[in-house]
Formats: sequence, structure tokens, C-alpha cells
Amino acid sequence: MENFRIYNPVELHFGAGVVKKLGSLASAYGNKALLVYGKGSVKRNGSYRETLQSLLDAGIEVVEFDGIKSNPIIEDVDAAADLGRKEGVSMIIAVGGGSVIDSAKIIALTIPVSHSGWEFLDGSEKPLKALPLIGVLTLAATGTEMNAAAVVQSDTHQKKIGYVHKLMYPRHSFLDPTYTCSVPENYTAYGIADLIAHALEAWFGEGEASLSDRFIIAIIKEALKYGPALMKDLENYALRARIMYAATCALNGMTVPGKKSQDWGVHNIGHTLGVKWDLAHGATLSIVYPAWLKLQQDRIQDRITELGSALFGCESVEDTIYKFEYFFKLIGCPITLSQAGIQCSKADKDDLHRIMQLNQVDGIHHKLNEEDYRFLIDHMA
Ligand code: NZQ
Ligand code: ZN
Repeated sequence: MENFRIYNPVELHFGAGVVKKLGSLASAYGNKALLVYGKGSVKRNGSYRETLQSLLDAGIEVVEFDGIKSNPIIEDVDAAADLGRKEGVSMIIAVGGGSVIDSAKIIALTIPVSHSGWEFLDGSEKPLKALPLIGVLTLAATGTEMNAAAVVQSDTHQKKIGYVHKLMYPRHSFLDPTYTCSVPENYTAYGIADLIAHALEAWFGEGEASLSDRFIIAIIKEALKYGPALMKDLENYALRARIMYAATCALNGMTVPGKKSQDWGVHNIGHTLGVKWDLAHGATLSIVYPAWLKLQQDRIQDRITELGSALFGCESVEDTIYKFEYFFKLIGCPITLSQAGIQCSKADKDDLHRIMQLNQVDGIHHKLNEEDYRFLIDHMA
């Protein structure tokens, strides 16, 4: 086991009705908030109305920025930061899925400065302070509600970058599973794939840490058991709650202690599919993982089989890969680009290869070379 340090300052409020407390807690951060949300789902599931009411009840003035797109772009982040700066807001309230909360994290860093948020993402500037951020999560998937990461895209640069800084931990995150009951079938399935992928990125990291491995297995088992049940009963609060908490645990740091690294190769490849085709994040992962496991099957046979044995009682690497493919298909996720409706021509493959090079796609533990890129592209198509 490696030496480790644990730091996670997020105060998480979980359960039906928790948002009522938001306004009084937010008043610790001033009296003017930038309320950030996406393209309208929050107005149909009660999260916007209840958050706004709680803020107004606490005497907090609200300035709104809406329209954050799925797979968020830096132009929206910068426009929201301009608005927040002009209005002199003292805090950010983000209501939505990972795209909204991730955008809000970079907005919180960008309001105090005069340059684009992209300069933090590309490493040319270091943040010194951030406005306090409160999240109201409406989609179980990314774990952003309890971590310090944000992933934002620049169409101009054809890059999607994941950025981590401890100034971006939300001060509070409110998780009412009721809000997630309206998430449609496809995004519910993508969220389940995403949480499994986060656990797998930790499983395939470097180092030996048995308790972290057991957490990983427990989180994936929760998804394997309750995911398919949820797909048949989308408005079931109890199932939504289990998946929502599993998604938080999959990327809040608890799967890592004692390991030297995670891997993140699959996510980095997935982001390039997002850049090229604007595919939903979880769908990119259900497409990349089977191809990546096939690439690695002779290199890390024992580790893959250990995973398959713990999750499915598998005895071989081939069986393990088959079980993952079967599960992703069962919940309605694509496992190839063609299943996602993308017919990949030779020119598309070359272009994807170029975007992978541009984004310097790699894993932390399992390094990827040019030949691997080609193998992955052929097996994803
Ligand atoms: O825009 P609106 O109208 O809100 O609709 C959204 C969007 O179309 C909709 N939605 C959200 N909550 C809903 C709902 N629809 C009905 N009912 C609700 N309750 O769902 C669509 C997808 O939303 P989005 O926020 O894009 O999804 P997700 O939460 O999966 O976030 C994906 C983004 O997070 C990044 C991804 O790369 C991607 O950009 N990630 C962030 C991570 C992190 N910060 O730690 C880690 C992840 O690996 C991931 O990379
Ligand atoms: Zn993810």
C-alpha cells in the first residue's frame, strides 16, 4: 500500500426535500448569487423552483445564467463569468447534471480574474481564489458533486480537458433523488455506465490496495444489481437513491487510497469521441471500455479476470469482457460507434486518430501508443 492523504471538504445533503436548507446555508456566503443551469430540464423536475424559493426566502438576490449545454463549452463558462463579475455576485449556485456543475466550478475560478477560464484548463494560469459554489445535482453520473474536478471542451481547440483543483470543491451539494426521476432512459443508462467506468479507472490504476478494491467492487455491484431494475422503473425513488449515492461514491476519492494512481485512459479516449461527435459522456465510455479491455486482455489478463471473478463469477478474461458488453447492452448503452448511430468512414477514423494525438490521449498506468490508437479505433467502430 502507498502512503496517502484524504481531503474532501464537501458537505453533502442527501434525500427528499433537502434543498429547503439551501438558502439559509448559502446566506453565509453573501446576498447575491449567480444561478447556473442547463437547457430547461430543471424547470420540469422541481429543482429550479425549490432552489430559487429557498434562496429568495433567505433574502438572497439571484442573477440567472441558463443554456449550459451537455458536454459544456468554454464560451458559456466565460459568458457566465462575465455576467457574474458585472453583477458582483458573491457565490455560484449550480442546478443540473455534471455539465452544469463542472461549468460552475470553472466559472467560480474565472469571476475573480480577467482572462478566459480556458487558461486554467490548459495550465497557463493558476487559480488563487474561487467564489463559493453550491451544487444541486439532478443527474446521477459524474461524481462532480463531491470532487474537485471539472471537464470542459473548447471547440476552437478541439480539446476536452479534465481539470482538478481543490478550490473547486463545492461547499455544499444537495442530492434529492426525486429530481433524478425525470432523467430519460438514455441518460439514466449513460449515468450508470459512467459510474461503473469511474470505479474501473480506479481498479486499473497502479498499486495494490485491497480495501479500495473492495469499495470498487461494492460500488460496481450496486450498479449491476439496481441499474437494470431502475431501467424498468424510472420513477422509483428508492432505486434512484441507490444509484445516485453509488455515483457519488465512485468518484469522491474513496476508491483510491493506497493506490499509486488511477488510469483514466478510457475517459481520455471517451472525451475525444465527445469532441468529434458530441456523444453523451456515458455512451462514449460504454463504447471505449470493451475495446480497451480487448486491447489489454493479454497484457493484464490476471487483473481483468480478478475483476470478472469478483463481479460475475467469471473464470476467463474473454468471459469478463463479454459480461461487461452484455451489461452495457442490457441497460441500453451502445458498445460500438455504429450502435450509437455513427458509421465511421476511413476519413472519420483518421480524423479521430488526429484528435487523439492532439489531446495526447493516454492512460496514467497503462500507456497507449500509436498502434493502440489504431486498435481502439477499429474495435470501437
Ligand atoms: O440541459 P438540461 O435541460 O438540464 O438537460 C440535461 C442534459 O440534456 C439532462 N438532464 C439533467 N438532469 C435532468 C435531465 N433531464 C431530465 N431530468 C433531469 N433531472 O441530461 C442531459 C445530460 O446532462 P449532463 O449534465 O451533460 O450529463 P452528465 O451529468 O452525465 O455530465 C456529463 C459531463 O460531465 C463530465 C463529462 O465529461 C461531461 O462533460 N464529467 C465530469 C466529471 C467530474 N467533474 O468529475 C467526471 C466524469 O468522468 C465526466 O468526465
Ligand atoms: Zn466519467
